[in-house]
Amino acid sequence: MSAISFDPTSGVWLLSTVRTSYAMRIDHTGAPCHLAWGPRLPLAAVGRLVPPHAGDVSSFEGRSPAGEELPVDGGARYGAPSLRVRFADGTRAFEWAHLDHRISEPAPGTTELALEFGDRHYPLAVTLHYRVHDDTDVIERWTVLRNTGREPIAVLRADSAAWTLPPRDDYRISHVTGQWSAEGLLHREPVPHGETVLTSRRGITSHHANPWLMLDAGDATEDRGEVWSAALAWSGGWHLTVQRTSDGRTAFTGGAGHDGTALPLGPGEEYTTPRFAALYTDRGFGGASRSWHAYVLAHVLPHPDETRPVLFNSWEATGFDVDETSQKELAAQAAKLGVELYVVDDGWFGGRRDDTAGLGDWAPAAERFPQGLGPLVEEVHRLGMRFGLWVEPEMVNPDSDLYRAHPEWVLHFPHRTRTELRNQLVLNFARDDVAEWAYTWLTRLVADNAIDFLKWDMNRAFSEAGWPAQEDGQDLLWTRYVLNLYGVIDRLRADHPGLRIETCSGGGGRVDLGILSRTDQAWPSDNTDAADRVTIQHGFGQIYPARVMAAWVTDVPNQLTGRSVPMRYRFHVAMAGVLAVGGDLAHWTQEELTQGAEMVARYKEVRHIVQHGTQHRLRGPVDDGPTAVQYSTQDRREVFVLVWQRAPRHGMPRPALRLAGLDPAARYRDAATGAVHHASVLTGYGITPELPAGDWSSTSLHLIRVDDEAVDDSGRSAS
Ligand code: DGJ
Repeated sequence: MSAISFDPTSGVWLLSTVRTSYAMRIDHTGAPCHLAWGPRLPLAAVGRLVPPHAGDVSSFEGRSPAGEELPVDGGARYGAPSLRVRFADGTRAFEWAHLDHRISEPAPGTTELALEFGDRHYPLAVTLHYRVHDDTDVIERWTVLRNTGREPIAVLRADSAAWTLPPRDDYRISHVTGQWSAEGLLHREPVPHGETVLTSRRGITSHHANPWLMLDAGDATEDRGEVWSAALAWSGGWHLTVQRTSDGRTAFTGGAGHDGTALPLGPGEEYTTPRFAALYTDRGFGGASRSWHAYVLAHVLPHPDETRPVLFNSWEATGFDVDETSQKELAAQAAKLGVELYVVDDGWFGGRRDDTAGLGDWAPAAERFPQGLGPLVEEVHRLGMRFGLWVEPEMVNPDSDLYRAHPEWVLHFPHRTRTELRNQLVLNFARDDVAEWAYTWLTRLVADNAIDFLKWDMNRAFSEAGWPAQEDGQDLLWTRYVLNLYGVIDRLRADHPGLRIETCSGGGGRVDLGILSRTDQAWPSDNTDAADRVTIQHGFGQIYPARVMAAWVTDVPNQLTGRSVPMRYRFHVAMAGVLAVGGDLAHWTQEELTQGAEMVARYKEVRHIVQHGTQHRLRGPVDDGPTAVQYSTQDRREVFVLVWQRAPRHGMPRPALRLAGLDPAARYRDAATGAVHHASVLTGYGITPELPAGDWSSTSLHLIRVDDEAVDDSGRSAS
């Protein structure tokens, strides 16, 4: 049971999740200070904990940078502030004055605490929010700032929350870096003393880093050990600062915006930061990932119970060269393969023949779709599939009617070059007229064409992020852009309850808890080379579940890397998430079409385990040997294991894979061979699945619990 309690004697608030505790109180200066985050504690014990910055400080130390719930710029503080403001008279320091607290139950199984503060002199209200749920150890935090005065306040930094770790001898950080087509590269490295900044200054979540981290004391493994982790629900620029202090502590703060961005807060205005969710577990990195997956399913996704369909996407098959005839032909092939959702990618609209023109002109290209999209959509529906369409609403090519009509709609500064990336400029979604324009054509497009699915793309980072027509526009736009983007998506979803959306930004440039709360799946990378994809998916899956991880099977040689791997391997890699097909089916041989149809059918037999099950990474992509992932249904009655191997070396031992999380008394039948395995052997001693010889070999294993059946001595089912 989760709960939030307050002990008036000690002044301690205690947040209890299923397996963890989090505690804080107000210190003698009025600041909210941190007491505990880790294993469960009784309220009586928390009162005895000492805040990290208690005790005498020398005239050079000031307060420890670690140990406050929201370190402000003010007083003797010299660490990275979570809150920095400039009042109208130029004063910068904030001084805490605690006013009140409220504990409420906004929904069954959810408890929320609001700690209310003001500044001792200036008219700024600050409320720290904490939320816990009955079914997760994730704690959600956010902060609300309100200007209660008559003059503007400049908010120079407004993080969602700061988190403090308990004292340990050492600290290590896990996070991902990347670039376009190489997202999600997992790093696990010591936390350096000083400050480590993970950030995106690109206006999007970015391919280069993702707003989450995991911290441990250097001793956690995949299966065990303490891990503290956090993820930010924000789809614009962001900033996480990890501090390892001279007094041996580690803490981190994070929120929207990057260095140099500010937010004007006018009289009476309020700013709510994005949510920053965090989790403690003693079950290792795998346990942390599983808790995040369960949290995303239970508390983030709009339709977590749905099973995502197998989709076909036209991008790698036909590129910009889409027309009614060729798409109908491909759709017919896709339907035979077992595809359930047919998605037409870029190239269907305006003057879009390549990436130099047409973005912004969202009417079907007349010479390619003479009667509009209707006949193609009807045909796709007649074939029994849903219809999906690619859009990139935030962008414009200078060579477009939209730009010729509204050159002022893009991010720009008056006397600066408008830097083009992929020949396009960013529409200023912070402007309400731009957001309204996008919403209007999108909702009409969806309604007029019975569109079931949108792939929402965004193909460049911000530059010259100015908004000259608006006072303080260059400061306002970073936040307003994202809020208006969210607003357009939310309105579309409300208008079309059956509409499903994929988040894409040139691959994985905009995947985060914020966008996932209003979309249904994500495109993790434009890199569809199955070999590279194993690593990308490994990074993606640290926080985000298989249920949102779209994965296409495309043609070889791969158009990006030139590498060829067998079709079986490509399918097995894509089966680790939401399977899709992106190859040019018009050129597949009969043999490939048959194999493809078999693999799609096989995926449909197990996708409930992959998309809704629990994931254990049995062996990561650490070397040329096997990488394996296990999925189990919540009731553990079915288990599905995928194994991929790059390049076996002759004479190297073949590692046994020890399955995880099964009842040792259970027995499981291999759905393919009929062989029965004891779970005690599977988990305690492991199995070494047979892999076809050669490089890029792969296999899968579907095990079904057979406790109720009679099993003879040979291990075969007797019935
Ligand atoms: C980038 C996406 O990630 C690709 O899948 C494709 O949709 C292209 N954009 C189209 O321009």
